[in-house]
Amino acid sequence: MSRAIVVTSGKGGVGKSSFCVCLGRALAGRGLSVALVDTDVGLNNLDVIMAVENSVVYDLYDVQNASCRLSQALVPDPDYENLKLLPSSKGYGKDVQTQTLVKAVSSLKTRFDYVFIDCPAGVDAGFDRAVKCADEAIVVTTPHVSAIKDAKVVVELVKSRKMKRLSYVLNRVRPDLVISSQMASVEEVTDVLGVPPLGVLPESDEVNGLSSVGSMEMNKETSEALKVLCDNLVFGKNEIYDYTRKYRGFFGALRRVIKTRI
Ligand SMILES: Nc1ncnc2c1ncn2[C@@H]1O[C@H](COP(=O)(O)OP(=O)(O)OP(=O)(O)O)[C@@H](O)[C@H]1O
Ligand SMILES: [Mg+2]
Repeated sequence: MSRAIVVTSGKGGVGKSSFCVCLGRALAGRGLSVALVDTDVGLNNLDVIMAVENSVVYDLYDVQNASCRLSQALVPDPDYENLKLLPSSKGYGKDVQTQTLVKAVSSLKTRFDYVFIDCPAGVDAGFDRAVKCADEAIVVTTPHVSAIKDAKVVVELVKSRKMKRLSYVLNRVRPDLVISSQMASVEEVTDVLGVPPLGVLPESDEVNGLSSVGSMEMNKETSEALKVLCDNLVFGKNEIYDYTRKYRGFFGALRRVIKTRI
């Protein structure tokens, strides 16, 4: 059965859109069909991160105005045929109504295994519109106090919407800093948020470079972390990628010293 999952955060810039693309590609790589819906109206981003901005002909606004069919607006990922993007409208004044989005997502659910709704930052109308289309929610946060504080607000808001599932993703983790107690660990963040972690994603040059180089091989750590996260999502497991493994023990301590001196 198809799942419509909103990816939200409260705080901006914590990695929602990058996470949607990484997750979409990881699931598509398993043979699942995935649609990503960019609901950041006016500030479209997913097309840029997927490096398909030149392939966008129609967007959500055109779907709303019946200038095209929904299927005509879908843009395929360059590497995964079974991953498609529904772009949001560009520029000012091309607003998209909640009803348009709800209809589009429910139609996508009949054609795709997973529909991820990439939410804009904040908790205003854009948040409301994105959350209304979804049955489940993933809150993305980084291990920084301001991001965790906003994630907590969003968790409470989402809880009041009675979603089928609610979890969070801890993004941009630096294991070396977690070990030296300079960064919050997944256990500490889970305690604050009070919802289960779906996964942990390390700070990664490859994720950071997505929009400049398009599709790119992920490093070993990010690939493993994504694999564990996908297993949790698809099979309902509750495993957490052992992100500090590389930095424990004698050689791990050496790696930490080297990393902090770079
Ligand atoms: N795991 C990661 N490692 C390194 N860089 C990352 C990671 N995740 C995201 N980034 C970087 O963080 C920045 C913000 O990411 P992104 O645009 O995905 O965030 P967002 O939450 O969607 O932002 P907005 O709220 O504006 O929509 C980008 O430069 C992206 O490359
Ligand atoms: Mg975004």
